[in-house]
Amino acid sequence: MSKNISWGGRFQKGPEEAVAAYTESESFDRALYAHDIAGSQAHARMMARQQVLSTAEAETLCRGLEQVKAEIESGAFQWQPALEDVHMNIEARLTEIVGDVGKKLHTGRSRNDQVCLSFRLFVSDRLREWQKLTKKLCAMYVRRAEEHQQALMPGCTHMQPAQPVSLAQHLLAYAWMFKRDAERMADCEKRVRISPLGAAALAGTTYPFDPASVAEDLGMFGVFDNSMDAVADRDFLMEALFVASTTMMHLSRCCEEIIYWANPAFGFVKLPDGYATGSSIMPQKKNPDVAELMRGKVGRVYGSLMAMMTIMKGLPLTYNRDLQEDKEPFLDADKTLSTSLQLMEGMLGELVFVTERMRAACKAGFLNATELADYLVGKGVPFRQAHHITGAAVALAEQEGKGLEELSLAQLQHIDARIEDDVYTVLQYETAVQRRETRGGTGPCSVKKQLADLHSWLA
Ligand code: ARG
Repeated sequence: MSKNISWGGRFQKGPEEAVAAYTESESFDRALYAHDIAGSQAHARMMARQQVLSTAEAETLCRGLEQVKAEIESGAFQWQPALEDVHMNIEARLTEIVGDVGKKLHTGRSRNDQVCLSFRLFVSDRLREWQKLTKKLCAMYVRRAEEHQQALMPGCTHMQPAQPVSLAQHLLAYAWMFKRDAERMADCEKRVRISPLGAAALAGTTYPFDPASVAEDLGMFGVFDNSMDAVADRDFLMEALFVASTTMMHLSRCCEEIIYWANPAFGFVKLPDGYATGSSIMPQKKNPDVAELMRGKVGRVYGSLMAMMTIMKGLPLTYNRDLQEDKEPFLDADKTLSTSLQLMEGMLGELVFVTERMRAACKAGFLNATELADYLVGKGVPFRQAHHITGAAVALAEQEGKGLEELSLAQLQHIDARIEDDVYTVLQYETAVQRRETRGGTGPCSVKKQLADLHSWLA
């Protein structure tokens, strides 16, 4: 290997081939090229303002960097693993283009504050993209909920049928989760979009720099307070990965439901052809592979978060090369989350809800048992006793292979004489849903309010 032009001054020979391959990051951190260039241009402009460079020199650097960017985007750029990383690849090419003034760009700067700036800009852009995708997905849940305000389904606890709910209410539960995820992304951005530039290697610099103006130039929210913290910290990244993990977890729960709802034993949904796959041996199969993979890919994103937590836990201040291991987990998590959000939006948009099957399933599970108990409470029976009486009614109905609403009045009165003819209205599944108009309940007005609130947030 040839000697590194950026730091090879004191070395007799370059690193071993295997060492160069082990230590390079250019093969993956090139993803940061645009943010690195933006950071360098802001650095050059600040140096001109502070009279560390002439205005002409800063302009030459900015123009040269623009050309480097164009070359990268056209594919003409020759990436060189020997130059280690994205930063040195760009600086070397800049110097080829603009000549010796290119060597002034790194004045008062270290790759330690440089890489942290590039990465913070990159992560914050991705957080903005995640927010957009998460909002779009939330809007899709709202749309599908709007279509299914009348449809009833069994709401479950312990995965056992519990009480009837509207399909809209079930779908809106996810809409609220994704709203919180989007809000977490926005909040996280406040701590990610802080500029570390000016911390230099670790101790600050002797040049009369103005870090706050760099932050302002780049549209960042603020600037570091301690140079050692600035170059050593990656908690901004862990926070972003936690937000990604939580969003993936919500996606995974939704996937799990789609998977079992699509099982013919439930038959609550029909998978869109474009989001299902067949079996190579069993011709009848239509498999929910997209939902399964999405559920599985949560592991990658949690893995990224765990990787970062582990990388950071024993690092002494300040920069250590371990920190180069921060890019790949994030890039992988970013790809996984972004594609998953888009695919879920597409799949949900085309998912067919078989509402007759959902309605029929309400009947199978005595989902109106709570209604009977509450009805008895209305007749002055203490709740515990009402619960017991209802249990007896359920046992009888089960024995007869009927729903509670199918028992005769004589049968019901035999269980408790206080039951009257008006019980049958109460036992209707529709009534059970309609009467739950307390805050956030499954009642139609409550669902309408949720829809309105989500619409105003989405707007
Ligand atoms: N590629 C390195 C990283 O990602 C850049 C910083 C290198 N700094 C250093 N002092 N070797 O962390």
